Amino acid sequence: MSLFWRIFLLNAAGLVVATALLLGPVTVSTPVLAGEALVLLGGLAALLAGNAVVLRIGLTPLHRLGRAMTTADLLGPGTRPEVGGPAEAAQLIETYNTMLDRLQAERAAGAGRALQAQERERHRIARELHDEVGQTLTAVLLQLKRVADRVPGELREEVTLAQEATRAGLDEIRRIARRLRPGVLEELGLASALRSLATEFTHHGLTVQHHIPGDLPPLAPEAELVLYRVAQEGLTNTARHAAADRAVLTLRPLPPPEGGGVELLVRDNGTGLGRAAEGAGIRGMRERALLIGADIHLETAPGGGTDVRLRVPAPPGDRSADRTGDSP
Ligand SMILES: Nc1ncnc2c1ncn2[C@@H]1O[C@H](COP(=O)(O)OP(=O)(O)OP(=O)(O)O)[C@@H](O)[C@H]1O
Ligand SMILES: [Mg+2]
Repeated sequence: MSLFWRIFLLNAAGLVVATALLLGPVTVSTPVLAGEALVLLGGLAALLAGNAVVLRIGLTPLHRLGRAMTTADLLGPGTRPEVGGPAEAAQLIETYNTMLDRLQAERAAGAGRALQAQERERHRIARELHDEVGQTLTAVLLQLKRVADRVPGELREEVTLAQEATRAGLDEIRRIARRLRPGVLEELGLASALRSLATEFTHHGLTVQHHIPGDLPPLAPEAELVLYRVAQEGLTNTARHAAADRAVLTLRPLPPPEGGGVELLVRDNGTGLGRAAEGAGIRGMRERALLIGADIHLETAPGGGTDVRLRVPAPPGDRSADRTGDSP
């Protein structure tokens, strides 16, 4: 029943009963007698209490909706407020839930387009760095080598230094191109790409171990890219913020009871997230996760570091979960 009818009927019933009593057995004298005043006050109190109860019950779903609105997060799958209560409140909650679903879908689609554009742009820059700048530097290196064979002795050291600087520049360009475009992902697959990522981050006092099995369930290329980028951002954050000396990159297939798919875990033994505000890096991870329907959680690791946990569901209609179940 709607809130309008609940309040209206309660008040109407109170007024009808009061009128019927006044027209019938009950009288109110002037000045009012003590017994009559008691009956009147009792009736008034009953009416007020009835109104309070009806309003409280009627408004509770709206309070619930208010709380859900304040904590709504378009980047998290999140829970929806329960549809219930008087008709107006139920309809409002239902409309809100539908609106949230639509906004979330639109946000995911928008983020998807932005991320695809970003990946395409990274590809282009990586290709140009590799093909243009890389080729030019290689040509310079060859020229320097030819010069080095002919220069007089006193200039040889300077030419060698120039050769070394050019070679270092070339390595740097290749490294940047590799980071921009995870070529290993396309060439060798996710497992090798993640292993080489772990090796790449093992430097300057940080050791990154990896536990990545070879036989992973098949994943969509977008899911592999999301797994790779989340691992990359997780390890970048570990190297930049965590002051950790150890990190572990784990990828494990999820058994069918856990929904199939895979779980990526980036764990470090650093300072932990604390109350740090989320920046573009973590927001990017959430947007990528949303894009492929994955769950992402950042939490304190056992022992105080940071855990970044990404659960990627098996592609719809995929039978890998069954295969995992069959395997010994
Ligand atoms: N592994 C970690 N250990 C400790 N603190 C972390 C870790 N990861 C993230 N943080 C904290 O969370 C903050 C937000 O991280 P986020 O990746 O969103 O942004 P950022 O790394 O500062 O910048 P960027 O946009 O370049 O990634 C960081 O500034 C840092 O304080
Ligand atoms: Mg970051």
